[in-house]
Amino acid sequence: MYYDEETIENVRAANDIVDVVGTYVQLRRSGANYFGLCPFHNEKSGSFSVNKNMQIYKCFGCGESGNVFGFVQKYENVSFPESVRILAERAGISLPEPDYTPEERLRVSKKDIIAKINKEAATFYYRLLRSPEGEAAHKYLTDRGLSEETINKFGLGYAGHYTDGLYKYLRSQGHSVEELQITGLFNISEKGVYDKFWNRVMFPIMDIRNRVIAFGGRIMGSAENVAKYLNSPETDLFSKSENLYGLNLAKHSREKFIILAEGYMDVIALHQGGFNNAVASLGTSLTERQARKLTTYTDNIVISYDSDGAGTKAALRAIPILKNVGLSVKILNMSPYKDPDEFIKAIGADEYRKRIESAAQAFDFEAGVLEKSHDFENVDEKTKFDHEIAETIAKIDDPMARYNHVEAAARKYNIDASALRDEVNKIGSRMKAEETNAKAKEAQKASREKKAEEGDTQRARLLLNTITQNKNAYECVKDVLTEQDFGSGIEPAVYIQIRSEYDKMGLAVGARIVEKFTDAEEQSKVADILMTSLEEDMNESERRKAFADLVIGVKKSAIERRIDEAKQAQRGEELVKLFKEEKDLDALRKKLMTADI
Ligand code: GTP
Ligand code: MN
Repeated sequence: MYYDEETIENVRAANDIVDVVGTYVQLRRSGANYFGLCPFHNEKSGSFSVNKNMQIYKCFGCGESGNVFGFVQKYENVSFPESVRILAERAGISLPEPDYTPEERLRVSKKDIIAKINKEAATFYYRLLRSPEGEAAHKYLTDRGLSEETINKFGLGYAGHYTDGLYKYLRSQGHSVEELQITGLFNISEKGVYDKFWNRVMFPIMDIRNRVIAFGGRIMGSAENVAKYLNSPETDLFSKSENLYGLNLAKHSREKFIILAEGYMDVIALHQGGFNNAVASLGTSLTERQARKLTTYTDNIVISYDSDGAGTKAALRAIPILKNVGLSVKILNMSPYKDPDEFIKAIGADEYRKRIESAAQAFDFEAGVLEKSHDFENVDEKTKFDHEIAETIAKIDDPMARYNHVEAAARKYNIDASALRDEVNKIGSRMKAEETNAKAKEAQKASREKKAEEGDTQRARLLLNTITQNKNAYECVKDVLTEQDFGSGIEPAVYIQIRSEYDKMGLAVGARIVEKFTDAEEQSKVADILMTSLEEDMNESERRKAFADLVIGVKKSAIERRIDEAKQAQRGEELVKLFKEEKDLDALRKKLMTADI
């Protein structure tokens, strides 16, 4: 909710902070500041100060600070708009009706907007599939063995012959281009707006609340030179690492396990075959978040990934992820068929059910894969296998199960039991040590980064304070400082406000800057920044040097951050540019040391 800037400025101007605070706290004047007992914490010393020029307050005891609105918010325990109303009344100003900011409205409802438009898009696709334009698409689906009931249950559709069919339709329904843009369903460029999906069979992806969060679109026929499937990009509503296709249906299943497949068609074929507990991770490798989500609905997973090399690899990757969140895992063998869809089409759901019953324990599957990739006739290969099986056993958490697997593997693969036991224990201790080590390193790194960050933030804040108080200093650096130089906290936003104040008003008033932040916590942070100044008693050359240190320090850490990013992303050209910028800082320092501030 907000009042326009002019209203707020009027209310502020009519409420001098010294007068307002003075009605709550007894203040006594000392220089530019007024002091009193802090109303926000218990004290006897009077560390609460109010600055008449800046129109802000700060307590040096408890750290509370803000402008007149912040003070009322905190003292009366009310929201920002409420504080505006109280102070308006105090000054006899009548207020217009408040409104939501466009940004607020958008942020609150972005997800709702996407969900609503996605649903309309799904309906559009759904109708097209059942129209003459969708005849070929419909035939494609029925040729793949899908019943009318299944097609309806999954809300399948067709994206139409035209490259802007959906766009025109949704515009005619009154949606703005801005709204349509955030859905990811359109390619918007200077060449115009085009549908992302056209001439594809459409699979709506639902979340567990049955909202359409995204789409997958498949070309009809085999894929040559084009992607077989196209998926919605990540949006405010859709994160592909978090969602599982079919979970909205599988969560209602009474089965004690969930079948994890790879693709849309697998899930659909499984549900049609009577397995209403099938889900898919949609071509991306399974993530920990997806695994966690599964634990809400089941304790047992049956992996039914494709039986080819890629599927086997994906299963080997998925097993530890599932186990780590406490799920027990079996792997279904589909050979000689490629995937559940083909399997059921070829020999039926009953056979598939038998395969579920005979699904391998994760360990046996892993051992089987190892066994197949080593030639036991070759002694070196066999020894390598023995080591690798020890590694696999060592990863079993439960000590009893680990013991049993040592005994069983020793018998089955003809390995000396005590040698295997020793090796498993050795690997076990090594893994534990590595884990402890990694954790310690992680903690060290975090603490180092935190310290560096604190230093950066402190410098950024002092610089902001200096350029607010000193117009010459601002003029001196306004062309070299960008908001990105101030890091990622609230500081860049403060810099933007300072700049806009100088542009608009020719000077920067602390209280006006504080006001641009409507959240009480943010206001307090900003006031804090504006009241933390450099040491007062410095001579001119000391002050110049301190200022130059600040500017160079802020620029330097910003450049270093960008260098790290560029290195990570291997952007060579940018690196060269950044190294040059870093070098140019010497010249900047010289200039600052002679500046008139
Ligand atoms: P069909 O060929 O129709 O039987 O597909 P499928 O569901 O069996 O898919 P497949 O096993 O080939 O791939 C598994 C999943 O990976 C698919 O359901 C898609 O989610 C995803 N996928 C496959 N091909 C592509 C592609 O070309 N691009 C993208 N983005 N995803 C793909
Ligand atoms: Mn398939």
